[in-house]
Amino acid sequence: MVNKITVVGAGNVGATTAQRIAEKELARHVIMVDVAEGIPQGKGLDQWESAPIEGFDSRVSGANDYGPTAGSDIVVITAGIARKPGMSRDDLLNTNAGIVKSVSEQVKATSPNAIIIVVSNPLDVMCHVAKSVTGFPRQRVIGMAGVLDTARFRSFIAEALDVSVRDIQAMVLGGHGDTMVPLISYTTVSGIPITQLMDKATLDAIVQRARDGGAEIVKYLKTGSAYYAPSSGAVQMVEAIVMDQKRILPCAAWLEGEYGMSGLYLGVPCKLGRNGLEKIIEVTLTADEKAALAKSAEAVRDPMKAVKL
Ligand code: NAI
Ligand code: 2OP
Repeated sequence: MVNKITVVGAGNVGATTAQRIAEKELARHVIMVDVAEGIPQGKGLDQWESAPIEGFDSRVSGANDYGPTAGSDIVVITAGIARKPGMSRDDLLNTNAGIVKSVSEQVKATSPNAIIIVVSNPLDVMCHVAKSVTGFPRQRVIGMAGVLDTARFRSFIAEALDVSVRDIQAMVLGGHGDTMVPLISYTTVSGIPITQLMDKATLDAIVQRARDGGAEIVKYLKTGSAYYAPSSGAVQMVEAIVMDQKRILPCAAWLEGEYGMSGLYLGVPCKLGRNGLEKIIEVTLTADEKAALAKSAEAVRDPMKAVKL
């Protein structure tokens, strides 16, 4: 358990993340911050009132300012807006970049030693904004997307084979978008290569469904996007850090030569422990996987250039 974890944005992803963190007792204090008056306070109090029933002692609370968050060990950033009618992708990009910029400035001022986990979209670019604004080292600014994309991929494989999700090992790399890269050569079921258990057409369909996983949920919900699996993804990263688990998880990390690339955030296998991002693991990729990762990097670089900081 650490002393304090802050979740910025008390919307669907943020509030569910705070709840999961409290229920796992990963911090003594869990604080939600949001610009919407009363929302973080109300949700925080409601969650705290569930503590006697759920049996956790993490104190959950909410605020509209960063005072109560001072000295946080970990900050999860989920603040942002969804695309509205008439808004271009660039409008959304710059609106969320403005939000993540102002959040990052306040995190830097109040919790200068925090490890930041970014969730706000477009994910890879928002990680870049948070790192640029705070000036924190790459060990302390990490993005959540690969854990979610991989969980979707694993859940669809488990369903198709009618086996436990626990036995599916997989890793989805690249940017959080249409160009994400499921590593087929490393996808196994209890060590058995997936290609021995599933025909190519079924696997291709699952890869496509994982790529479209976010859109599939939006299509059902209509007024919002996924938040149960995304919050699980963020909390798996928080837990790996708090408990110093040295987990190898696919996370968005700032590349400095790994995979032959530098100067951008991209989903790669990362070792997470008490110091945050402790190592980027470089695995051998097939020619197709290398090409797909390079293509995904281009899809991240373009919007990065469009961001005005
Ligand atoms: P939401 O709309 O339910 O919540 C967003 C919250 O951010 C709202 O409560 C809003 O008041 C707050 N907010 C806006 N500006 C703020 C500011 N300056 N400071 C503090 N709070 C502020 O949205 P939801 O569903 O919670 O999603 C949050 C973000 O996470 C979105 O950008 C979404 O696209 C992204 N997301 C990313 C995923 C990933 O895999 N990386 C997965 C799911 C969502
Ligand atoms: C998702 O993949 C919206 O990025 C979010 O569900």
